[in-house]
Amino acid sequence: MAKKQIRIGLIGYGFMGRAHSNAFAQVGHFFPSEHELVLQAVCARDAAKAQEFADKWGYKSIETDWKKLIARDDIDLVDIAVPNNLHAEIAVAAAKAGKMILCEKPLALNSKEAEKMVKAIDKAGVPNMVWYNYRRCPAVVLAKQLIDSGKLGKVFHYRANFLQDWTINPDLPQGGAALWRLDVKAAGSGVTGDLLAHCIDTAIWLNGGIKDVSAMTETFIKERKHNLTGKVEKVGIDDACAFLCHFNNGSLGLFESTRYARGHKALYTFEINGETMSLKWDLHDLHRLQIFDHKDVGAERGWKSVHVSDGDHPYTGKWWVPGLQLGYEHSFIHQVVEFIAGLESGKGAKPDFKDGLATDYVVDAVLSSAKSRKWTKVKQVKASKA
Ligand SMILES: NC(=O)c1ccc[n+]([C@@H]2O[C@H](COP(=O)([O-])OP(=O)(O)OC[C@H]3O[C@@H](n4cnc5c(N)ncnc54)[C@H](O)[C@@H]3O)[C@@H](O)[C@H]2O)c1
Repeated sequence: MAKKQIRIGLIGYGFMGRAHSNAFAQVGHFFPSEHELVLQAVCARDAAKAQEFADKWGYKSIETDWKKLIARDDIDLVDIAVPNNLHAEIAVAAAKAGKMILCEKPLALNSKEAEKMVKAIDKAGVPNMVWYNYRRCPAVVLAKQLIDSGKLGKVFHYRANFLQDWTINPDLPQGGAALWRLDVKAAGSGVTGDLLAHCIDTAIWLNGGIKDVSAMTETFIKERKHNLTGKVEKVGIDDACAFLCHFNNGSLGLFESTRYARGHKALYTFEINGETMSLKWDLHDLHRLQIFDHKDVGAERGWKSVHVSDGDHPYTGKWWVPGLQLGYEHSFIHQVVEFIAGLESGKGAKPDFKDGLATDYVVDAVLSSAKSRKWTKVKQVKASKA
């Protein structure tokens, strides 16, 4: 039977453009489905660079204006892999054009923009997903399965951090290619929307919604040269953020992120403590899940490190043989697996734009609490199914 084609138009060919292209190219080899992904076009402002990328990754054509890409009849799905300030405008236009949409995280610069995006996809009824890829690491899915099975009992604590060290140098400029994350106009916020957004999305998925937050942020370097204006300008992003929260299930949350933790490049960890079981995960060891089961017999009770690579672990049976581990890039491939499965079941894929909005509500509440120095309620999105 002929497969149904999904003709992809990718916008942005940076870090995520590559991660997504790799996922699109690989998924059919390991997870056969009724669908075939076609790398139809890549869009970037510089034609020569776009062509170079198209040749390297196998895209059939290029565009230099995302509006033209969206207007094309031979594009079924628009993949948004550009800086945060462009997500909303592109997604709303793509929804109006009836395209399926994959959008990078955070969904938008702020929750106001994200609400408009949710409205647009609701109105258009188009399949959508946000690239919160850590949900799709096999060890994180295993954590989800253990939590959903009730093995943890009542949950008391959830803690997560995401630590980096790449902006300590005060001479590092802000703005423009590669450094847009330091420019508040392009990024929306600093570590809160960039790094903590990942921690928040995973936390909501594993432990349910967040009720209220109490946060502090700091901008250690107050002024930096702006690459686009050439002038020294005020830095508008948060360099570090820590917050406490209450989850709707009564558990307490503790989150920290910074780009000033010397020695840490991408230390994303989470831990969840329940009455009868605790779980720990670490991005540096992403194929392992640490499990403490209080029901184990006394003398043998202790933390065990499960190498999540066996045939019956999530996704792993479709890859190599038991014991051979998967890596970062597989989380993106698994997201595409979920997106296709959502199309084929008609149920849609998670995390969708509503889930992205839920995280943006928490991000906004965190930034607002840090400003007011007060506990701040988190706006809730109507619950969507896991
Ligand atoms: N899921 C994840 O783990 C993860 C990791 C990194 C980045 N991200 C997100 O992905 C998005 C992109 O980040 P990145 O690290 O790939 O950035 P990047 O700087 O590596 O790439 C951004 C790309 O967007 C292009 N671009 C900018 N303006 C454009 C325009 N008007 N038209 C077409 N192309 C344009 C740039 O030329 C560049 O190719 C951001 O939203 C970021 O938050 C997510």
